[in-house]
Amino acid sequence: DISSLHEELAEHFPLGAAIDARETSDPSAELLLRHFDGITAENHMKPEEIQPVEGTFTFDAADELVAFADDHDLRVYGHTLVWHSQTADWVFEDADGNPLTDSPEHQQLLLDRMQTHIEAVAERYGDRMWAWDVVNEAIDESQDDGLRRSEWYRILGPDYLAHAFHFARDAFGPDVQLYLNDYNTEFPAKREAMFQVVSDLLDAGVPLDGVGHQLHLNLVRPVAMVEDTLERFRELPVQQAVTELDVSISQTAEESLPTAPPERLVRQGYYFRDLFDVLRAYDDVLTQVTAWGLHDGRSWLRTWPVDRPHEAPLFFDDQLQSKPAYWGVVDPDQLP
Ligand code: G3I
Repeated sequence: DISSLHEELAEHFPLGAAIDARETSDPSAELLLRHFDGITAENHMKPEEIQPVEGTFTFDAADELVAFADDHDLRVYGHTLVWHSQTADWVFEDADGNPLTDSPEHQQLLLDRMQTHIEAVAERYGDRMWAWDVVNEAIDESQDDGLRRSEWYRILGPDYLAHAFHFARDAFGPDVQLYLNDYNTEFPAKREAMFQVVSDLLDAGVPLDGVGHQLHLNLVRPVAMVEDTLERFRELPVQQAVTELDVSISQTAEESLPTAPPERLVRQGYYFRDLFDVLRAYDDVLTQVTAWGLHDGRSWLRTWPVDRPHEAPLFFDDQLQSKPAYWGVVDPDQLP
């Protein structure tokens, strides 16, 4: 029997995996419980799933995951409260289906909707989650203020972030860590834009506890970029988490192959070795590392941005077996 990933990492940080209801039965559940400490809902806690229609809350799928976590003593990371994507259209529309404007009335309406959603989620789950992605993917490094021109921004302006974190702190209380989460934070321009936004929020007294680095990586993205980002945010009084880790083996975005080339899986093993050397060295600031999927067969990268049957970005393969990515973390001497 191979050793447990989360036990190998236990002295450094807990290990999570993104799942949906499919992973709550065997054999996936067995793999999950053996190798991971916690879960994130890959989709079931997103705004459009929890509130598809105004005032109609559908917690069933999320409840199923939380019940599974309760049964097995798993930590749960909440994803996500305020996002521009996977949010139902009604959120940004008036009663006639027209887009909200930035008038004071519409701003108040949207803030009320934001608060109502956050309070409903907090009432349901209280402190069952140890952390939440309060705002997801708000950064756009090409903008002067570093903020994505989303519907939230268009209607409310830059203050929507502060409102979201204050609503979340009021609703969840002090024991749930509140995160700003984003992808590509390992790139220098995005890193600096995020750094500025987070410093400004902290200076303004906004209750933000942590920065989430999604880390959707690939074989040609230097691990040193990740290290530079962890080092940079260490300057701020925030926790950090790796929230959506995967390492694509595609060389270009369009590449589609019938199966994974074995040499790339080995390269990926060394990549995971190097990456986890860095992550272990930052265990004083990292609250958790989360893989974005339990095994390769369940990765979103199989279908995005094109069908890629060869894609294999995680620790375990479609047959739930360990692969070089796993050995790179647990025992790199096993790598060829
Ligand atoms: O809702 C339908 C469902 O009814 C149907 O059975 C299914 C069959 O294909 O499609 C369903 O929706 C899909 C949904 O996943 C649930 O499976 C969507 O088409 C699909 O777009 C959606 O993709 C998710 C994606 O977020 C959407 O933005 C991925 O699973 C999920 O891994 C991905 O996760 C995001 C993080 O939330 C934020 N960071 C980036 C990350 C990767 O894109």
